[in-house]
Amino acid sequence: MTDGNIVHVVGTGTIGEPLIGLLCDAKKDLGIDEVTFYKHTTNILDRPKIKGLINRGANLAVSDDKVKDFQDIGLEPLYEAEEAIKRASVVIDCTPKGTGLMNKEKYYLKYKKTIKGFLAQGSEFGFGKMYAVGINDTAITPKDQFIHVVSCNTHNIAVLIKTLAIEKQKNLLKEGKFLCIRRANDISQVKSYVPSPEVGVHKDQQMGTHHARDVYHLYETLGMKLNVFSSALKLNTQYMHSIWYDIKLDSKITKEEVIDRYNKDPRIAVTQKQAANLVFSYGRDHGHYGRILNQTVAVLPSVHVINDNEVIGFCFTPQDGNSILSSITAAERFMYPDTYEDNLRCLGAFLLQEV
Ligand SMILES: NC(=O)c1ccc[n+]([C@@H]2O[C@H](COP(=O)([O-])OP(=O)(O)OC[C@H]3O[C@@H](n4cnc5c(N)ncnc54)[C@H](OP(=O)(O)O)[C@@H]3O)[C@@H](O)[C@H]2O)c1
Repeated sequence: MTDGNIVHVVGTGTIGEPLIGLLCDAKKDLGIDEVTFYKHTTNILDRPKIKGLINRGANLAVSDDKVKDFQDIGLEPLYEAEEAIKRASVVIDCTPKGTGLMNKEKYYLKYKKTIKGFLAQGSEFGFGKMYAVGINDTAITPKDQFIHVVSCNTHNIAVLIKTLAIEKQKNLLKEGKFLCIRRANDISQVKSYVPSPEVGVHKDQQMGTHHARDVYHLYETLGMKLNVFSSALKLNTQYMHSIWYDIKLDSKITKEEVIDRYNKDPRIAVTQKQAANLVFSYGRDHGHYGRILNQTVAVLPSVHVINDNEVIGFCFTPQDGNSILSSITAAERFMYPDTYEDNLRCLGAFLLQEV
């Protein structure tokens, strides 16, 4: 590690690109001296994206054997891949399933004495302590050098539970059921589109899909054991994920109370809109890189209460926005353990109250 606070992002995909962009744009307020990023594949289609990130102030790293390939398409790398990791204060891994865990074994563990912290994203179960901002901040200790930022839908489920079922650190959740209605792929991706709705299977015997399993483990860091179950299906759309929830409480609640809590929670954006494209479009117009950083967008007209204790409704998942906010928060905490919350104020404008 060299002098100064250097944040290194590995991966420039759906989550990596806007993350690098936001770190560059808010660099001064976040107290970051340099943003570096690793690009894996030499692809002429990605050239404008990489140029754009360099123009925003980020420095490119590639592996040794690809330097000439990148130069041949007009991109000048400043660092070699491992050198960029070695110089970093914090490394944020934004690579696909399994790669973050592989990078941990191959590189990150080697530099854990000098680098302050390492983060990986949703798919990297087992990378480190699970984290979602505003949910389990108190569970993170200086010993937690490896952090696993949970997936976007896990953030969404987690904040619904926190807002409706956790009171003064007491768990009032009797049972939570969630249907994750996922978009086929992101508008930045061409692979993995589906021609029609495609249902998922329940790989986890007790909790269904990884969404409930992850939220269970997230809350377990706070010493709580939740009774949760999830299912998932993919829709032939590129817009936002949606979640149907059914949250049964140990205490009474009214529809008005639910709406009041949603309105007051800064991590929740509320909406009267019932179509995902309208919410997505609002994010495109008002978010940074088109991203809403809230953990969920709760659809108020869908809120329904039965039996005085069961809340049912729909919400939309700001898919990469919530993970980006948790990633930046955890990175800032590694660099500024005492003052990180002050630094993060600059991102307040992207936490929307109403969509
Ligand atoms: N997409 C979302 O909405 C979302 C939301 C929350 C969390 N996440 C999580 O974020 C992570 C990344 O997802 P994503 O959607 O951003 O994926 P993505 O769009 O497919 O991007 C993956 C990135 O990783 C790079 N990469 C691939 N193989 C690599 C390797 N062996 N070494 C280093 N870099 C490599 C790719 O580089 P090249 O293109 O140069 O090959 C690409 O920039 C996953 O854990 C995912 O679960 C995603």
